[in-house]
Amino acid sequence: MPRYLVTGAAGFIGRSLAAALLARGESVRGIDNFSTGKRHNLLGLEAMEFLEGDLADPSVAARACSDVEIVFHQAALPSVPRSVADPLSTNAACVDATLQLLVAARAAGVRRVVYAASSSAYGDTPTLPKHEGMTPNPISPYAVAKLAGEYYMRSFARVYGLETVCLRYFNVFGPWQDPTSQYSGVLAVFCRRMLVGQTPTIHGDGEQSRDFTFIQNTVEGNLLAAHADAAAVSGQVMNLATGHRITLNQVVEILRDLTGYEGPVHHAEPRAGDIRHSLADISLAHRLLGYQPAINFREGLRRTVEWYKTLAD
Ligand code: UD1
Repeated sequence: MPRYLVTGAAGFIGRSLAAALLARGESVRGIDNFSTGKRHNLLGLEAMEFLEGDLADPSVAARACSDVEIVFHQAALPSVPRSVADPLSTNAACVDATLQLLVAARAAGVRRVVYAASSSAYGDTPTLPKHEGMTPNPISPYAVAKLAGEYYMRSFARVYGLETVCLRYFNVFGPWQDPTSQYSGVLAVFCRRMLVGQTPTIHGDGEQSRDFTFIQNTVEGNLLAAHADAAAVSGQVMNLATGHRITLNQVVEILRDLTGYEGPVHHAEPRAGDIRHSLADISLAHRLLGYQPAINFREGLRRTVEWYKTLAD
């Protein structure tokens, strides 16, 4: 019987979490509908029990949750611009599926659900760093949908006593992140393009900044959240990031160094729904989980470039 369920297990973050659990000898079930997840992301996860299906289907959600103790809910339809183009699909994948999962988790007697929440909840408020006490100010449909999922988590903790922990991710990057979609995260796109000598495009002036978080830090935070004392963490929302920010222009300079790219950078219009600066206060996760990011940005990017090199070969 699997102890853990990872939703979105064929996605970048889900597969990384599943791999870490398997490496610790844990029993894991994964589920994915392959809307953005990739079959090749399951390579190396053969020890995981895998279900193909959509969590918005109640019978699928019930099967996924049966006999599970802890759920890592990573399944979503990521990307701000995708949600601007198609808010209904984002809502279905991020809100409907999350509610269905929670209903199924409760019915199955799951003890805890750890949820992939998003820094986009903060929106474009000028205050930096963003801390959890700030009033959410979501801009894009994606941000609204991820925030709605958070509220459902907290509701299920309060109303039904399901243990829930919401981790607000800040721009996660690393090996296995898909660089091929028009909605791919910027670091995945830039790593791949610059490695093969293609011009990267910066939307806007490149002075926007992000608290880019290497995947290993994200995985570690999830594992801590799964086992932290319920009295301290259940129903809580906390940032999971590094506490440092870097501009896209700085990113390009570091990537020039790591990839050897010497070509130009193209500038395009800023993206609709984009936010200017993002930086996390990570003191709450430190206090409640003992979380501390072990891998800094540059080292994370170095490892990521090395991984994309193996794809380019
Ligand atoms: C947002 C969330 C993030 C979430 C992600 C899901 C914030 C601060 N972050 O990321 O937590 O995980 O959605 O998809 O809300 N860009 C370029 N060129 C490109 C691609 C992107 O210049 O080729 C720029 C974007 O305009 C943006 C920045 O890079 O300013 C980051 O974009 P992206 O990687 O898509 O992530 P966010 O939208 O910041």
